[in-house]
Amino acid sequence: SAVDRFLYAMRLHDDQLEDISARFQAEMKKGLSAESNAAAAVKMLPTHVRSTPDGSERGQFLALDLGGSKFKVLQVKVREGMGIRKGGVEMEEKIYPIPKELLIGRGTELFDHVSESLKDFLQEKNINLEKTHPLAFTFSFPCEQPTLNQGLLLSWSKNFRLRGLQGKDVVQSLKGAIERTGGMNVDVLSMVNDTVATMMTCGFDDQRCEVGLIIGTGTNACYMEALRHVDLVEGDEGQMCVNTEWGGFGDDGALNEYITEFDRDVDAASNNPGKQIFEKMVSGMYLGELVRLVVLKMAKVGLLFDGFVSDALRTKGKITTANVANTRDILTGLGLTPSQDDCIAVQHVSTIVSFRSSNLVAACLSAILTRIKKNRSLRTLTITVGVDGTVYKTHPQYPKRLHKVVRRLLPESHVRFVLSDSGSSKGAALVAAVAQRLASRRKQVDETLFPFQMSQEQLHLVKSRMRADLEAGLKNKNPSTIKMLPSFVYHTPDGTERGKYLALDLGGTNFRALLVNFKKGLHQNTRLYHKIYTVPMEIMQGTGEELFDHLAQCVSDFLDYMGMKNAHLPAGFTFSFPCEQTAIDTGTLLTWTKGFKATDCEGHDVVNMLREAIKRRNEFDLDIAAVVNDTVGTMMSCAYEDPECEVGLIAGTGTNVCYMEDVRNIEKRDADAQRMCINTEWGGLGDDGSLNDIITPYDAEVDQNSLHPGKQRFEKLTSGMYLGEIVRQVLLDLTRGGLLFRGHVTEALKTPGIFETKYLSQIESDRLALLQVRSILQQLGLDSNCDDSIIVKEVCGAVSRRAAQLVGAGIAAVVDKIRENRGLEHLNITVGVDGALYKLHPHFSRVLHDTAKVLAPLCNVSFLPSEEGSGKGAALITAVAKQKDKDAGCKGQT
Ligand code: BG6
Ligand code: BG6
Ligand code: GLC
Ligand code: GLC
Repeated sequence: SAVDRFLYAMRLHDDQLEDISARFQAEMKKGLSAESNAAAAVKMLPTHVRSTPDGSERGQFLALDLGGSKFKVLQVKVREGMGIRKGGVEMEEKIYPIPKELLIGRGTELFDHVSESLKDFLQEKNINLEKTHPLAFTFSFPCEQPTLNQGLLLSWSKNFRLRGLQGKDVVQSLKGAIERTGGMNVDVLSMVNDTVATMMTCGFDDQRCEVGLIIGTGTNACYMEALRHVDLVEGDEGQMCVNTEWGGFGDDGALNEYITEFDRDVDAASNNPGKQIFEKMVSGMYLGELVRLVVLKMAKVGLLFDGFVSDALRTKGKITTANVANTRDILTGLGLTPSQDDCIAVQHVSTIVSFRSSNLVAACLSAILTRIKKNRSLRTLTITVGVDGTVYKTHPQYPKRLHKVVRRLLPESHVRFVLSDSGSSKGAALVAAVAQRLASRRKQVDETLFPFQMSQEQLHLVKSRMRADLEAGLKNKNPSTIKMLPSFVYHTPDGTERGKYLALDLGGTNFRALLVNFKKGLHQNTRLYHKIYTVPMEIMQGTGEELFDHLAQCVSDFLDYMGMKNAHLPAGFTFSFPCEQTAIDTGTLLTWTKGFKATDCEGHDVVNMLREAIKRRNEFDLDIAAVVNDTVGTMMSCAYEDPECEVGLIAGTGTNVCYMEDVRNIEKRDADAQRMCINTEWGGLGDDGSLNDIITPYDAEVDQNSLHPGKQRFEKLTSGMYLGEIVRQVLLDLTRGGLLFRGHVTEALKTPGIFETKYLSQIESDRLALLQVRSILQQLGLDSNCDDSIIVKEVCGAVSRRAAQLVGAGIAAVVDKIRENRGLEHLNITVGVDGALYKLHPHFSRVLHDTAKVLAPLCNVSFLPSEEGSGKGAALITAVAKQKDKDAGCKGQT
């Protein structure tokens, strides 16, 4: 017919629709990518809505619905209140007309109208004005959302064009207006686009609904995108709803081939020329205009009304989308006298215009569905599209045509269309309900972790308590806490040490045997051979004899390995537990700590016990010349590299410090040397209750379940053996409170010791994506989702951070004491460090350094990680001891 020929350009064939669909797919990619987003016509805005409804949402909300053809205020009750059957939603709403001039006035005036309408609604429905009401806001314009309750308006569209809001946060504007109106307490929890709200509304009844579509005054769609493709939001796991703002498709010329002269005229006469090109071909606000322009042109060229053109027909807005169905009345209303043919022709025009609209929507919708299908590597996609908008709802043929074309374009997918039954506010309330739950979860997690936060004041207190107990220990006053054990090491190494020594190292994660050879000349000439042996738990906690027999057996193996069974080597013994020493080669074990509890050892000389075990073996001989705490070994080992090293620190399975103390300060002194290294055994700080103010119930639980309850309280707040257990206690509590792992306390979570230090270190690594955190938790038997992993990581962070700060406060006390001992205003000093926590944890060392710096501002403290462990230090001490023996021997001979 004549009309068909006239409107040829508006009839789109399937290959053209496929071309449009492909173009739109490219536009989506562009909008999602961080590099091209700024220039993209299709904005692809992240919405911070991460899941469709799951049935757990509840609460009562106020709702505002602004931006469609009607402005509404509502009250929405989700699964709450008396009248609703379980699982339902109850809504009350009122439409408030917006005076025309407000749509193109000042933004603040529009928002004042909105908030006054809200107040009117509250009064009319007798809603308590005193109480605080959570509010869900549907705002149907493109907004950049940094969070769920912020929205920076990018531009107005449709019939809204207000001054002073572009680039501003509309939630703030709303809050401002609510404050100006006064007399209400409202908490704006969330802001969503109408597409998102529609998807959620329909998702309430249909779990498969993952697309929201509006064909109303404007047009737009949203869908659930894989978060890994949403560059603008951190995270790589799970989904996020993306508001495509597809109305802007074509704003950069991508649709030029398909644009007719009528589209160009509609655009030119619009509120926003050059913008929302696709929307202007599709949505209700423009379809009537398109029909009018076509009819006008046809009349002008004589194809209609015998060439007669009325004034009304020339006037913008005289044909609306609503009219398009009823041709004769509208034409007569325009001062025209249509013939039967005219009516049929005009009817045909409007069919073509709306058919093109549904075709374009079908093309872009199929692009979205194809993308989802690819994201999920599916062969067939089964999905539901939630739809709303006056065009879709009132235009008789529209839905059928749209469905048909979508199914033709995607023959292998099952697409269901669901009409939103109750507008967008139901969905908006569901989003708010999730936000409310997350906020309350957030609050409870924060409250749980709060006691782990150390204020500067608390850290200063810890420093001064440490200092006081160091002093008390030196004066032998407070044997119950810090023991301050003399080590009988008087000097750090001077580089003249020579010879081959065996070093045995018990007390850390493993037992190690080493052979160290100090050669003449440069330090680099130290030779080191070693072997690592695990100590089984039964042996750590069996009899003393079994333990030392095991050590002798390891030594025997090592000597075999080195081929030195008969060498009768001098040996140093690193024994990382508190020993009372009276000489360098004797040490009485005062008490076991950490994971050891072998019987008949406490109160005995450990050097003797080792000698006895070697004798029992009757296989090789060893000359044990020194027994050394690991802190002392570490200090010596590091001092070999750096003469300023006068402190040794262990932050590993346990924690402890030694340092060079002035002999005049040592009660139990026995030499005329100027200084002696003191093994502080600072892990005992707090054993008299002095740390009770910072000890949390989780710490108390860990202490109670430990091998040595009531002992080593400072160590239990700070060292590798306990941090994981503290974390586990916190996770248990959060889970019992329903804040984690969906409230399921699993066997894994009940297993003591599952969180080894190495896992903590991995979980907290910044380089690790959340997905990897999840897989670590999976390995540990903990089935977590993405939110769970975030919380677990936070718990680990809180616990390890506190540990590092406390150790930092302790170090500050030690270095300040050394500085004061020496009467210095400034002290440069190096701390030699070892231990898995210090070396492997991603943040521990940094936080420790920072804290020490702040709390000991007059000291310039460097930290030097020990390279070969404390064994080398033990060997150095042995070398010095042997040298002395020799000297004494020589003297004796003369
Ligand atoms: C309504 C929503 O149901 O649909 C509105 O509640 C939305 O927020 C509208 O904008 C879209 O349709 P229309 O035709 O009113 O623009
Ligand atoms: C090692 C020492 O290097 O560090 C051990 O040689 C010490 O004696 C250990 O106990 C501390 O680290 P961890 O992490 O094994 O307890
Ligand atoms: C316009 C708005 C968009 C909205 C759509 C439907 O395109 O920019 O945000 O979703 O209209 O109301
Ligand atoms: C424990 C021990 C101590 C050791 C520390 C580090 O605190 O009691 O002697 O130095 O662990 O291993």
